[in-house]
This record gives sequence, C-alpha cells and structure tokens, in this order.
Amino acid sequence: MCGIVAYTGSRPALPILLEGLKRLEYRGYDSAGVALHEEGQFQIYKQAGKVSALARSVAGVPLSATTGIAHTRWATHGAPTDPNAHPHLSYDGEVVLVHNGIIENYAALRARLAAEGIPFASETDTEVLVHWIAWHRRRRPHASWEEVLREAFASVEGTFGIAMLVRSEPGLVILIRRFSPLLIGLGEGEFIAASDATAIVAYTRRVVYLEEDEVALLHPSQEAPQIFSLADRRREARVEYIDWDVSAIERGGFPHYMLKEIFEQPNALRDCMRGRIRQEPLEVRLGGISSVMDRLLAAPRLTLVGCGTSWHAALVGEYLLEQLARIPTEVEYASEFRYRDPVIGPQDVVIGISQSGETADTLAALRLAKEKGALALGITNVVGSSIPRETHAGIYIHAGPEIGVASTKAFTAQLTALTMLALHLGAARYTLDRTLHDTLLEALLRLPDQVEATLHALNEPVRALAERFHTVSNALYLGRGYNFPVALEGALKLKEISYIHAEGYPAAEMKHGPIALVDEGMLVVVIALRDSLYEKVLGNVQEVRARGGRIVAIATEGDTEIQAYAEAVLYVPEVPEPLSPILTVLPLQLLAYHAAVLRGCDVDQPRNLAKSVTVE
Ligand code: F6R
Repeated sequence: MCGIVAYTGSRPALPILLEGLKRLEYRGYDSAGVALHEEGQFQIYKQAGKVSALARSVAGVPLSATTGIAHTRWATHGAPTDPNAHPHLSYDGEVVLVHNGIIENYAALRARLAAEGIPFASETDTEVLVHWIAWHRRRRPHASWEEVLREAFASVEGTFGIAMLVRSEPGLVILIRRFSPLLIGLGEGEFIAASDATAIVAYTRRVVYLEEDEVALLHPSQEAPQIFSLADRRREARVEYIDWDVSAIERGGFPHYMLKEIFEQPNALRDCMRGRIRQEPLEVRLGGISSVMDRLLAAPRLTLVGCGTSWHAALVGEYLLEQLARIPTEVEYASEFRYRDPVIGPQDVVIGISQSGETADTLAALRLAKEKGALALGITNVVGSSIPRETHAGIYIHAGPEIGVASTKAFTAQLTALTMLALHLGAARYTLDRTLHDTLLEALLRLPDQVEATLHALNEPVRALAERFHTVSNALYLGRGYNFPVALEGALKLKEISYIHAEGYPAAEMKHGPIALVDEGMLVVVIALRDSLYEKVLGNVQEVRARGGRIVAIATEGDTEIQAYAEAVLYVPEVPEPLSPILTVLPLQLLAYHAAVLRGCDVDQPRNLAKSVTVE
C-alpha cells in the first residue's frame, strides 16, 4: 500500500528509483513521482497514473543526480490527481518527502500550520507532514535532526514510512518509520532503501530493517546508516541477508505474475515442507514454534485472524485444527477482532495469517493479543516483515515473493503450513490416530506432484471454459466442509481480477436466500468431490439445475456420475478430504485468471487494489 524507494550513492539515482518503483507498483498504482537532489536543488516529477507514464515523462531528464526519493501511491487522503501525487515539498522549499501510511491527526496539525500562515497545495495528509517537519526545522536551525524529528513527531499520530531529502544537506536521505515497513539495502558506498526487498535485491542482499519509531540517516560518505529512535532508545543496526535473488521477482516468460505464481505452487509447497517432515518416525518438525509448544499444547482454544485470502486459509485451518488436533478454534477477520474487545487472556493463542506480514489489521490484532497476555504467532510469507518480527514465534510458509495482487501460491502454501501445524499438534496431543496421521503426511508429501499435474492438465480446458463464461455478470461458488472456504476464495479471485460479481456460499445455505438469484444467466461453480458430503452436494446441485443455473463442477477424477448434473466438469485427483482444498482451488484460480485476461482486465494490478494493505 504505497511503495517508497530512496537512493543515495555515486550512481545516477533516477534509473534506480524508477526500477524500484516498477518493482513496488503492486503496492499501489494511482500515481507515481520522484524527487532528485543535485547541487542544492530539488527536481520533482510526479503525476497521476502508473510508473510507466512517469518513466515516459522523465525520459529526457539528465542523469547527473545521485540522490533521490520516489513513490508509487495507493490513494487514501485525496483523489489520485497530479497535485496529490508524492513527493511533497515543504512551504520553504527545504524538505521534500514521500510517505506511506496515514496521519490521523492531520486536520489538527493542518490547522496549526494554517494559523502560522503556511499555504497548502494538495488535499493530502502527507503535505501536512512535510510542512510540519520543515516548520520544526526552521524553529531550531542549529539542532540535530535527532532533536528536530523527536520534537516534530511527538505530536504526530498515525502510521508512516517516510523517505525525505533536505535541500541544504546534499547526499542525505532520512527515513522515518512507524508501522509502515522500510528497509535499507547496504551497497558499496551507496544505500538503497524501500518499502520491501523487491526494490533492493537487484543491488544488494544485505539489509537492515528499520524498527518501530526509528529514524535512519543515510549518507554515501558513511559506511553504515546512522539509526536513532524517536523515543529514547538506541540499537546497533543488525545486518540481515535476503535469501532469494532477483530471478524470483521476474516474470520468467509468463504473461502475468499471477499465472507464473499459479504455476509456482508445486515448488512453493515443496519449499514450505522442506526440512519440516522427518521420516522414521514420520513426523512434522516446526522449528519456528518449538520454543512455545508447551503453551500451544496447553491452550484451551486457538484464534486465527487474517484478511481476504489469508482469512479463507484460516477458515480451512479451523477445520484442520479441530478435526486433527481437536483444539477448539475460532476464525476472525482481523479488522473485527481488534475492535470488539475480545475476551482473550494469557492462556490464549492468537495466530495471524498473512502473506505480506504487513497487513495493518492483522498486525494490530496480534499486538492486541500480546497486550492481553496471549501467545501471538504468525504464519507469514515475507521473511523479516512486521508480523514475524513482532510475534512470539511463528511459521514461515516459504512460498517465495508473491507479486501478483491476487494471492495464489501464498494461499496453498498457507494451507500446507496449517496442515503441518494440525498434524504436529494432533500427534503431540495424541488426538490423532497414528495411521491417519501417517496417511495424511504421506499424502501431503505427494501433493506438490499432483498440483503440478493438475495445473498442466487443467490450464487449457479452463481457458476454453473461460471463453464460454467470461461474459457472465454474476457467479455463485458453492462448496461444503473443507471446500466451503475454497468457494469463498474462488469467488474472491473472480471478482477482484475480472470484476464479475461473485459470491461464495456453503452449498446448503443457498436455499436460504441466494437461490433467488439463480437463473439462466448465472454461472454456478460447485465443488462436488466424492467425499463425506458428496450426496448432499449433489442434492444442492439439483436445486440449482432445476432453476436453470449453468453449472461447472469441480469433481474427483473418475467420477462420471457428476457429468449428468453439470455443463462442464473439471477433475482433480482424489486425496484425503483435509488436503483437497489445495487441489480444488487450482481450477478456480485459473478460471479467474483466464476470465480476466479475456475481459481485458489488468490481471496483476486490478483496479482500486494494492497488494500489501498497510492502512486500516
Ligand atoms: C486477495 C488478496 C487479499 C489478501 C489480503 C491479506 O487475492 O490478496 O485479500 O489476502 O489483503 O493480505 P496478507 O495475506 O498479506 O495479510
């Protein structure tokens, strides 16, 4: 949600900043801008629209500046217009900055500045911030930045990741962080900082993560960033290493990141399981939570929190943890959990599920759980992101960078991690029959190959099916048991990238209302596996058929009976029921993808969305 890049060193800054913005564009693409600092002057270029438009308009700009900041925006305060685009310049021309986050008390600050006669050129909270900092600087021209920023930020409320330049201090980049992530790449005589590692790995894999309420001063004349806290806390910058390289964030011959990531799922699952399943005795090992196992095993219940696709993974997790580990489990939208004063205490365990590890609501829900004394755990993809840094322990899903805004491989890797967790807890609590435990674990190990085969078998048939259905206006996704959350996920995928209105329902619930919508124009996608609920689902399919709905069934390989009920059938291999969501979601991801392509939609950057939702 908004992407920031900053560079200072000896190379031309502009191409590095533009390249960084392209990498970060999945975080927001309402507007883009860059500020360069050269010989005591700022050059600022910014406009509504995507990074490619900005890149075209700065094509002739000389490449002599070696310090700069840049921003790609997901609009919060103020429409996506040129004046509202970042960077924003202070009233005295001394400070220019880019900002990710929201200044909650911007109205109060604005009123104070307006009373001082300071004029405003945009509607953004960010402009308030830049004037506020410049005003404090002017009041104390001889104070250090540490003193000025501490004073200025004592009265700023909200969230921010900020990169800023100071006209009278060439080469200097200042970063400030509260809540919104920032990390600093360390090069030879240069620094490149950004909202996430995708903008950095092409230059260096040595990074320092900025922590809450920290400020970093970067100057090419210094080997290390100078870091201080807005509170009275100091720390040595700890250098960490990013364990993937730039090839992981290239499209690699695929037309879209989403398709690439769909096809990366076999490897994402393998990487998620690597080193975590031991043979003889067959068992799961989860090093990330071994230190908190006693508390986990004693917990009377688990609460899973997440948003969007991660919330759907949590719903599958509820089935897994209750069936296999027999621990009462609740699932909550992170955004609801944190605002309803939940009854949570030291005996509780709250597990946040998040691909990015930065989703504001999930992070805040985990913070609340910690405050109430609960054990807070994270199931996260992005290594070093805020959730794993702030929780007591957790599990990385190791799916690799996910760039497409629609989450795909993170979902199936989250399900893999949750399955391992449920098996691990089930075994440790002796609630899970040993034979079932081994059967499921062996089946889990076979799953990546089955995912691979299924994707290759289904891609073309699903594309052909999308040709038939991509013009519908409404779709209903139905599933039961483990596959009810998959129905929700299929509907979310379709609506977010193809803009076809879609709803997911438990198949049996349909007759309590939504069936009124079914007519000849309605696409109804039913997950109807030969499992414990098969006959029931067939009954639900009949109800839809009787009303003229056009049925696409996701069925178990070898099931010919279903063909009599559906206009089209997509088969997935038979696996134990708890593992089936990892296969049934594949045709739904492909259907959403191909429908969106056929409708001419921007698959990787759907309208109004951003990958990492770092505002509440
Ligand atoms: C949907 C999607 C979103 C995210 C949600 C949570 O395809 O990607 O619904 O799942 O914004 O994001 P994370 O998992 O990063 O917390």
